[in-house]
Amino acid sequence: MRTDYCTNFSKNDIGKEIELCGWADSYRDHGGVIFIDLRDRSGVIQVVCDPKDSTQAHEVASHVRDEYVLKVKGKLRARSADMINPKLKTGEIEVVASDLVIENASAPLPFVIGDANVGEETRLKFRFLDLREKGAFERFKLRSKATIAARNTLDRLGFVEVETPILTRATPEGARDYLVPSRVHNGSFYALPQSPQLFKQLLMCAGFDKYFQIAKCFRDEDLRADRQPEFTQIDVEMSFCNQDDVIAVGEELLKDVFAACGKDIKTPFIRMKYNEAMESYGSDKPDLRFDMPLIDVADIFARSNNSIFADPFKDEKGKKHNRAKAIVVKGGDNIFSKRQMQRFEEFVRKFGAKGLAFIQIKDPKDTAGQDNCVNFDGLSLKGPLVKFFDESDLKELVSRTELKIGDVVFFGVGAKKIVLDYMGRFRLFLADELGIINPDELKFLWVVDFPMFEQNDDGSYSAMHHPFTMPNNPDESDLEDITSIAYDVVLNGVELGGGSIRIHKDDIQQKVFKLLKIEPDEQREKFGFLLDALSFGAPPHGGFAIGLDRLMMLVTKSPSIRDVIAFPKTQKATCLMTKAPSEVSGEQMRELGIKLREQSK
Ligand code: AMO
Repeated sequence: MRTDYCTNFSKNDIGKEIELCGWADSYRDHGGVIFIDLRDRSGVIQVVCDPKDSTQAHEVASHVRDEYVLKVKGKLRARSADMINPKLKTGEIEVVASDLVIENASAPLPFVIGDANVGEETRLKFRFLDLREKGAFERFKLRSKATIAARNTLDRLGFVEVETPILTRATPEGARDYLVPSRVHNGSFYALPQSPQLFKQLLMCAGFDKYFQIAKCFRDEDLRADRQPEFTQIDVEMSFCNQDDVIAVGEELLKDVFAACGKDIKTPFIRMKYNEAMESYGSDKPDLRFDMPLIDVADIFARSNNSIFADPFKDEKGKKHNRAKAIVVKGGDNIFSKRQMQRFEEFVRKFGAKGLAFIQIKDPKDTAGQDNCVNFDGLSLKGPLVKFFDESDLKELVSRTELKIGDVVFFGVGAKKIVLDYMGRFRLFLADELGIINPDELKFLWVVDFPMFEQNDDGSYSAMHHPFTMPNNPDESDLEDITSIAYDVVLNGVELGGGSIRIHKDDIQQKVFKLLKIEPDEQREKFGFLLDALSFGAPPHGGFAIGLDRLMMLVTKSPSIRDVIAFPKTQKATCLMTKAPSEVSGEQMRELGIKLREQSK
């Protein structure tokens, strides 16, 4: 039906007779000559409908409106010098129409395609129009290239693609399940997989040795800019491997996928222990595009003459569960206004800080006669805090945090979990405020040696990765001291993927279930098939999963994960276009044996 896509022509093709199909991106009538920008997925080319060349084309063109679907026959010619548009790939050429067909009309559009001011709600409701925007197809083309590269690499490395069920039983990955009622078994429900975790382990038990899948996963969880209820993983599992083997596959995969997206990345990535990530960056997914680490000053605070600062560190238990951290902004004292300093405090308070103490480092000449200052070694340390410390401790602070005139140092003191969290967030907030992050940089790392368990707000424990992860020291008495052979790959402060070496012995698996208060009856009822599989000669195995949507979001520098998903859900997990989820008919409910407790209005 057509010769090629609209933009696959250049000056070398001048004189060629061509046939193109696409949409009227715009049209203009210039004194009897009608210009149409014809658009297809490749971009636009200008079509000239001049009655001198073709009365038919000109007559049809007079009926063309935005987004009409057109087929045009014509000849390529060079644009006159004053008509050249250097911004367009086809800016030096145009098509002189000899024949124009309107294949389909279009109703007036509900919004102008590509208009950044149109609300996302409207765009998602008409997603098929929204996707006509210039950049959209490029993003999905890149996603397709990334997926193909992943398949090719894993195929080359001997991995075999296997599909696992969508209608299944719950696999705990820490979120709520989406449930599907069974018509045949009234009162019973399938769960959509949160990941193919257990099936891929069972494939290792089956002896498949190396598995992968571009897998759809479903999680009913609170949505954020980088989360969707339905998303895709590049899911990998292998047998007879250790952590280094799995990480090597992960790095080769990422290198090839990024290369397919036009980005050269260096491997191996650095590795950082979970504890170091938390202590130095207040996050298990540190953004290493800038430094500004959190510096431990607990010993200095322990010697403070103010009990608010000293008490948290007075015994071993306190030292284990509390933290005092400093973060230095070089030259910050010259940059930040009073209002900004207030905003910083408001920010950390949102995450549980009681306040935000700081010390400004000034030139002693500028603070002569002022309160709240301690001067030594050519520096003047200023702030209400300084009077609570001996000069020797302030000197220690200066040397440890390398303070210079013009710097400002902020402090977070209190319960470990809260301080690390808000200081980690504050670090990112400061970097943003200072504009020190290079958006083009790609900083990968592996975070390793995760704790096996984490404590929930109600005091109970959950598995930090999932309960199938191999613990390093399962007999440790304090659950919080048990670590696991689990690793996450992090890019620019975003968790791109994660994995672990798995438990391949049923007794260890039972022990971990027990630590999680999953009693033997429940273990058999929920995971009997896994325990059976582990008891029939399961090989040592491990793997990982990379979030494909997140990866594409980072590669395309999209602000939202929705930009790289063709038909995404809203923050409230709805599809505004199809209106899913929707009520179903009384008949369907009866068949499923379901009656709502409270009939919605
Ligand atoms: P995990 O739960 O860490 O591990 O998920 C792996 C990766 O999947 C992506 N991801 C998401 N992407 C978009 N929306 C979501 N709601 C969402 N949740 C997770 C992230 C994440 O790093 N079975 C294990 C992997 C393994 O151990 O092999 C698992 O699913 O990029």
